[in-house]
Amino acid sequence: MCGIIGYSGRSDATGRVIDGLYSLEYRGYDSAGIAAFVGGEVKTVKSEGRVARVCEMIKNFGGIKSNCAMGHTRWATHGAPSDVNSHPHICGKTVLVHNGIIENYAELAAELDAKADLLSQTDTEVAALTIDRSYFECGDPIKAIAEASKKLAGSYAFGIMFADLPGSIFGAKKDSPLIIGISDDGNFIASDITAVLKYTKKYIALSDGEMCRISADGYEIFDALGAPIKKEICTATWNAEAAERGGYDHFMYKEIAEEPTAIKKTLAPRVKGGAVAFADDGIDDIMLSEMKKLTVVACGTARHAGLIAKYYFERLCRVPVCVDIASEFRYRDPIIDADDTLMIISQSGETADSLAALRLARERGAKTVALVNVIGSTIAREADTVIYTHAGPEIAVASTKAYTVQAATLLAFALRTAYAKRTISFEELKRCTSVLTSELPKATESVIGRSAELYEAARKYFSADDIFYIGRGADGYIADEASLKLKEISYIHSEAYAAGELKHGTLSLITPKTPTVALATRRSLFEKMMSNIREIASRGGKVFAVCADDFPCGDAVEARFDLPACDEMIMPIVAATACQILAYHIAILRGCDVDKPRNLAKSVTVE
Ligand code: M6R
Repeated sequence: MCGIIGYSGRSDATGRVIDGLYSLEYRGYDSAGIAAFVGGEVKTVKSEGRVARVCEMIKNFGGIKSNCAMGHTRWATHGAPSDVNSHPHICGKTVLVHNGIIENYAELAAELDAKADLLSQTDTEVAALTIDRSYFECGDPIKAIAEASKKLAGSYAFGIMFADLPGSIFGAKKDSPLIIGISDDGNFIASDITAVLKYTKKYIALSDGEMCRISADGYEIFDALGAPIKKEICTATWNAEAAERGGYDHFMYKEIAEEPTAIKKTLAPRVKGGAVAFADDGIDDIMLSEMKKLTVVACGTARHAGLIAKYYFERLCRVPVCVDIASEFRYRDPIIDADDTLMIISQSGETADSLAALRLARERGAKTVALVNVIGSTIAREADTVIYTHAGPEIAVASTKAYTVQAATLLAFALRTAYAKRTISFEELKRCTSVLTSELPKATESVIGRSAELYEAARKYFSADDIFYIGRGADGYIADEASLKLKEISYIHSEAYAAGELKHGTLSLITPKTPTVALATRRSLFEKMMSNIREIASRGGKVFAVCADDFPCGDAVEARFDLPACDEMIMPIVAATACQILAYHIAILRGCDVDKPRNLAKSVTVE
C-alpha cells in the first residue's frame, strides 16, 4: 500500500532512491518523501502528490548530495494525503518510513502521553515515537527496534534512520514485504525487487520479525530477539526492462500486449510428454485424484480468476469449488479442515486478506496451494505448495496479464485434475494442452492486433455513465472481471450480471443511455443469450457483443467484436483480453490516468 526504499553505499543515494520510488509508485501515489544524510545531518523533503513533485522540490534546492538516503511513496490510511502526513516522520533522533498499519496507534499515543509531540494524524508517527523512546532508553538501534516492535500491533515494513548513526539504514518487517538488495557499490532495503532491479538482481527476503542494518560496507540481519542470523541470497529472474514501459504509453497496455508471451512462459515448462502436469510444482496425480473439494480464496481480479477455476473444475472434474472473498473468509468461521484443499490466488503474493486466509487454513490443517506471480512473496513462502505464474512484473494497478495467465493456469490445473480423476482421457488432456499452449497465445495475439476495432467501440460508449456486462456460464465470470476493469480505470459505474438474472430487477435500469456489453462464446447458450439481448434491445438499450464469430445476433446488437475462431474452451479467456482493451480505450478517451487510478494501489497489504 506504500512503497519504501533505502540505499547506503558509495554512489548517489538520492538518485537511487528517487528511481526506486518511481518504480514503487504502483503501491501508492498520494504523497512522497525522502530523508538523506548530508554531511552527518538528516535532511528531509516531502510533499503531498506524486514522486515527481518531490523530485522537483529537490531540484529547486540544487539537489541533495548523499550516499545514504531512504524514501517513501504513500497510499493514505491514517490521515489525509497532505504534506504533514507524508513520510518520513521524525521523532527525536528517529526518522521513519513505513508500509502497513499500526492498529494500536491510539492506545500507544495515550500510553506515551504523546499528543503534544505529534504533528501528523498518522499511525506511523506514533511508531516513530515508540522506537525513539526505546532508542533513548537503551541507546542500541537493534534493541530499540526489537523492543518497540513488541508494542506494535498491526503490520509494518520499516525503513529507519537514527540521526546519530549516519550511513546506516535499519529495516524491520511484520506482515508487509521488505527485501535487502545487494549491489557492488552499496546495499538497499525495498518493498520489492522491482525498485532495485536497475542496480542489482541479488536480494534477500526478510521474514516476519526479522530486522536488518545496511551500510556502504555490507548488511546484517537479526532475528526478532536481535541475534545475528544468516539468510540465503536469491537472484531475481526479472530484468529491469521488464519493469519499464518500453515504447508503450502505459504499463497497462504494455502488460496486455505481453499476455501471449506470459501464457507461453507459464505453461511451457509444465508440459511433459505433450500433456500439462504439476508434479514439478509438488502436486502429483495422486494428490489431484484425492481432491474432493476445492476452496479458492482471493481478492478482486484474482478472485475473478478463481471463479473461472470454479467453472472449469466443476465441469471437467466434477469437483465442487467454493470461491471466497478473502476479506470475508476468516470472519465467518469457514468450514475447512484437514481433508480440504485451499487455493490462494494472488498476483503480488502480499495481499493482507489473502495471507490471513492462508494462515487460517493452515491452522486448521488444510492443504494449501498458492497461485502466485511474485517469486518469494509471503504467500508463496507460507503455502504448502506454490504454483508460480511467469507473467513478469505487473506494474499497472489494473491487473491484466496476471489475470489471463491465472485463468490459463487454472484451466491447465483443472485439466490435469480431470485426467488424474479419469474424467478425461490422456489423449484429451494432450489435445487440450495443445489448445492452451498454442491456440490460446495465438488467439490472444490476434485480439491485441485488432485493438483499433475495440477503440472504435470505445468511442461509441465512453461517455456513458453506466455500462452493464452480461454473460452466461464462464462468460458470466468474465463479465465480472470486465466490469471491474472498466470501473477501476474509467470511473464509469458498471455492473456485471449473469445474463438470465437481468430481468429479475436490473432490467429496470436499462435505458437508451445505458449500454450493455454481452459476452457470448458458448454455442450451447447462444439462444438464451439472444433472448437476453432482445430483452435489452426492446427496451431501447444498446448492446455491444463480444462473441464467437458465428453468434447469430443479427441487428439486435449495435456493434460486435468477433473473437478469433478457436476452441470454445479457451474463448472466454480470449474474450477477457478484448474486454481489457475496451476498458483501456474507454479510460483513455475519458482522460483517465489508467496506470494509477484514483484512490487505489496495486499491492493491498492492509486488511
Ligand atoms: O496481488 P493480488 O492478486 O492479491 O491483488 C488482489 C487485488 O487487489 C487485485 O486483483 C485488484 O483487484 C486489481 N487492482 C484489479 O485490477
